[in-house]
Parts: sequence; C-alpha cells; structure tokens
Amino acid sequence: MELLKDKFGRKFPYIRLSITDVCNFKCGYCLPNGFKIDKSDNRTFLSLEEIKRLAKGLSELGVSKIRLTGGEPTIRKDFYEIVKVIKNSSGINKTVITTNGYKLDKFAEQLVESGLDGINISIDSLDKNKFHKITGHDRLNEILNGIEKLQKLNFKNIKINAVLLKGVNSNDKDFQQWSNYIKSNQVEFRYIELMQTGDNLDYFKKYHISSKVFTDFLIKNDWIIQTLGIDAGPSKNYINPEFKGKFGIIAPYSKDFCKSCNRLRITSRGDLRLCLFGNTGINIRHLIQRDDQTEELKDLILKQLNFKKESHYLELGETGLTNNLSVTGG
Ligand code: 5AD
Ligand code: SF4
Repeated sequence: MELLKDKFGRKFPYIRLSITDVCNFKCGYCLPNGFKIDKSDNRTFLSLEEIKRLAKGLSELGVSKIRLTGGEPTIRKDFYEIVKVIKNSSGINKTVITTNGYKLDKFAEQLVESGLDGINISIDSLDKNKFHKITGHDRLNEILNGIEKLQKLNFKNIKINAVLLKGVNSNDKDFQQWSNYIKSNQVEFRYIELMQTGDNLDYFKKYHISSKVFTDFLIKNDWIIQTLGIDAGPSKNYINPEFKGKFGIIAPYSKDFCKSCNRLRITSRGDLRLCLFGNTGINIRHLIQRDDQTEELKDLILKQLNFKKESHYLELGETGLTNNLSVTGG
C-alpha cells in the first residue's frame, strides 16, 4: 500500500473532512454575524455517495481516522448515514466528529448507535452567560445534558474544546471551573489558542493570548504531561491521578507545532487542503464520481502531497485561503 507521506517525513493517517459550511452558532472568532451563503460558490456539498468513494480511496492510502467537521456537521439531514457509510463500507478504523453539540441532548442515543468512535464538543465557557455571549446562543445546559447522556450510554471518547480568549475565559477562576468539571467527568478538556484568520484580525488582536497562562496553572496544580499515539491530535495532554478527566493544550503558535502534523483537510465541496492555512487547495471531486476512479484519486492525492509546506507560517500573519474556520472545520 502506498502511504501518504510528505517531503519532510510526515505521515498522514488522519483526514478532517468538512461535510457542510453551514453553522447555526455565531462564535465571535469565526462567524460573528452568523453563517452567510457564499454566493461566489454555487457547488453543492459532497453527497453521501461521493463521501463513500472518498473514504474508501483514503483508507487505501493508509488513512485510519476521519474527523467529520463543518460548519456544524450534525446539521446535515443525512449526517448519521454518513457516519454509518464511513464506518461500514470504507475500511476507515475511526470515525469521529467535531460539533457545537447543539442537538446532543436529543440525539445522544442515535449518535452512539451510529457507531461513532469519538466526539469533540466546543464549549468555550462553563459560565452560562459567557457561553451565550461568545456563541450567540444560550444553550450551555442542553449541551452539558447531552454529554451526561452520552456518559450514561457508556460512550467513552468525549473531548471538549475551548478557544482561549484573553480576559473572557483565561483566568484561574475559569481554569478552576473546568478542573471541577473534569474531576468527576471522564472527558478530555483542551484549550486552543485563538488563530488569526482572514476575517478576524481585530478580534484576534483583542483576544489572542498565549496558552502559557494555562500551562502555568497546570504545573502549579501538579498536572503531569503525557506522551501521544501516532494518529493523535495536536494536543499536549496533562494527567492527574486524582481526576477522571484530562487537560490538553493546542498551541498552533508554538515553535515546531507543524513538525508533528499528521492531517490533511478536505472541504465540504471536495477541495483538498494541505494545511488549514495553506494557499494550496485543489479540487478532487471529479475523481469521486464513479467507483472505478479510486486509483486515479489516490494518484492525485499522493502527487499533491509534494506541495505540502513545512509550516503554516502563521507567526508571519499569513492566513492563506482561510477567511474563517467554518469552511475548513478548525
Ligand atoms: N482559532 C482557534 N480555534 C478556532 N475554532 C474556530 N475558529 C477558530 C480560531 N480562529 C475552533 C472552534 C472549534 C473548532 C472546530 O475550531 O471553536 O472548537
Ligand atoms: Fe498541519 Fe497546517 Fe495545522 Fe501546521 S497549520 S499543523 S501544517 S494543518
């Protein structure tokens, strides 16, 4: 099997696939005015059949994990069918999703039933009012109830992500709140450093803060750093035997962050993106129209990998094609 590998020796067992750009939340750093249809692009989102062929081709290239993202992936009516099709007919080992969790309390059972292997839920604050302010939606309780339901159903791989925002959720009080939560909940909570995108420059300047504030908190409170598996995410994890859950930090601005890159992205309309922030993105959709195109598809993806750059150059303020993360799924 020919495996996905780039010029810098990095391997890519992990694909993030966006299945819709539509999102119903209005997070200040991503879609402050809510989702707007991009009138310059009238292509539809990938269909179930296209996704099935894509997943099969990817698995033949050694991809073992697909993360479905959006927008908000659960907005798609055929969302559970997509999960099932990837689980049952593609050879991919792990299918996971990133969601804002807005329907979780109603759909926890269906999610578990679909065979999903893991879920990342975005919760920027455990304070109801702050949550409302950041996302534009007063739904924290429903989301937390949803998590409780998943736990009752014995669903194990639950992660929570928050974007670290200066003065909003970056104080010891916020950290302590999460600490109390993971004391008794077996979930992994991670802070992500706010990233600059084409649309959010003012927001970025106002709210970006290094994750060092959180690392300092962890060290002060006896958390111990943990080593990672090969298809793991970019998070540095911390454990503490007195807690059921774990903490993690995703720091895209840290030195050498891109050295351990193990993922590629595919947008909801079938553009392959070599990097969240890269300028490089070609369409591969024409090669998922028929079952007999798998070899051609694999060839094209393998060739494209030669163009993957060593780093995102975010520190130089480059944002590439990325206006906001609702298209490439964070
Ligand atoms: N910087 C950091 N994280 C972001 N996300 C969305 N936009 C940004 C940004 N500019 C996060 C979301 C979610 C994940 C999909 O990406 O909060 O956790
Ligand atoms: Fe990989 Fe790009 Fe993310 Fe860096 S920014 S880790 S190269 S996807």
